[in-house]
Amino acid sequence: MSRKKKYSWSADGKEIPDIPAYAKGKHLVLQEYIKNWIEVICGHCVFGPEKLTLIDGFCGGGVYRDGEQYWDGSAIRMIRMVEEGLLKVQERKPWYNPDINFIFIDNNIEHTACLELQLKKAGFEHYLVSGKCQIITNNFLNELDKCLNIIRVRRGYSFFFLDPFGLDIQPAVVREIISLGRSEVLLTHMLSGLVRILTRREDRYKKFFHEFEADEYYTDLAEQKDFRNRQAYLRNQGLLLYRQEGNVKYAWTFAIMKNIKTVEYYLIHLSSNSTALEVMKRTLFKYNNLEYQYHYGVYGLGFRELEYYEHNLSIYNISQQNLNDCIDDLAEQLMQLVYEEEDGITFEKLYLQTTQTNPATIPLYMQALIQQRLEQDIKIIRQKKLTQSRNIKNDDLIIKSRDTPLWIPGLTNRFEKVNKIDSDQKINRENQTTKKRRLKPQETTLWIPGLSADFNNEDD
Ligand SMILES: C[S@@+](CC[C@H](N)C(=O)[O-])C[C@H]1O[C@@H](n2cnc3c(N)ncnc32)[C@H](O)[C@@H]1O
Repeated sequence: MSRKKKYSWSADGKEIPDIPAYAKGKHLVLQEYIKNWIEVICGHCVFGPEKLTLIDGFCGGGVYRDGEQYWDGSAIRMIRMVEEGLLKVQERKPWYNPDINFIFIDNNIEHTACLELQLKKAGFEHYLVSGKCQIITNNFLNELDKCLNIIRVRRGYSFFFLDPFGLDIQPAVVREIISLGRSEVLLTHMLSGLVRILTRREDRYKKFFHEFEADEYYTDLAEQKDFRNRQAYLRNQGLLLYRQEGNVKYAWTFAIMKNIKTVEYYLIHLSSNSTALEVMKRTLFKYNNLEYQYHYGVYGLGFRELEYYEHNLSIYNISQQNLNDCIDDLAEQLMQLVYEEEDGITFEKLYLQTTQTNPATIPLYMQALIQQRLEQDIKIIRQKKLTQSRNIKNDDLIIKSRDTPLWIPGLTNRFEKVNKIDSDQKINRENQTTKKRRLKPQETTLWIPGLSADFNNEDD
């Protein structure tokens, strides 16, 4: 299943494709994530993992034309960013020198020859000579078992970047990679191609859907009359498919927009570890240039070239307004859960239950909760005592203010001592006990299918 080829490299490097602006978003996200991934995985303890393996299964020819300049492709960016991330870690741990290998695969011999040339030009020949980087000319699917075995023998962490022309990455491929443990996948999900197939649903595509384990998915597409609902439905079904059939715990998307309304493809990140998702969310927030309030329920965060050009070819950080909107929505979502839990809920549970339903990162969770504490909607309890710390810990208990948790001995007195509530505040607080939190009507799409909690259920 492939779309018209846009990219073609010649072995001698004379023919090099132009980079479309929307594809730059993919590279920026990839490189930032790799750097952060290395810093988090290798930096978090004294020793860190000994081995890491990075695989680019559809690697292309290594470099693009970008006007008068060149623009590095995924393989070269992966090496550069691993080096950069490692340098950062080694500032703190100069003794740390893990064994990091790269496998680059492409089924076009011109492309792999061009990549080899570009790697040499970029000063990475020593990776080829030492065997730390292997370039393989073959169909990725025919190499998958070998790659999985290499990783099983090497152990350690692995990262797969899978960027085919079309819809080649079936959930079964993901399932095998994720079952390795400590492995994750960033893949391009060619939405534009899928929509073309879906809108026809002809018999000749039956085999494709069956092999894709997608017989039961996308079936209500015709019922999504509204454009926005349709886009969101496609995104959510894609996530659900990989989550359920790929046996993946955490799945997240980033929309690469071709124009103002059309998603060319989604970058889908799949992992079995909430830290990996958190690192990805931080990366995506950095490169999002869509307006949160309008686009989030439809596309999630994403990259659109119009904004990219308007900002003089430099990615700008998400605006303060986007952050404010995100925190507001998050506070509503979290308060709904806190108010449902009479005995309070730990920060960790709150985060894990909701992290796949919003783009907020841990610092934003903390900010939203601290704001609620300032407004005296909640209390935060650490080791049986109220805490005013701005740094919330995993087992801190978040509890709605009107409840005194009687099961914690001696807590009532402490509350009064810490709060020193004057009579006005007391009235305020009493009012709050009867205050019914009303959720803003949320986009139905804020709920991602396949997760247990449906936050749109109002309890009145
Ligand atoms: C979108 S391009 C990859 C671009 C590259 N990842 C980058 O960002 O610089 C897709 C590449 O996959 C290769 N390809 C297509 N089908 C393949 C397959 N079944 N196995 C391996 N490579 C394949 C093509 O030759 C092409 O170079």
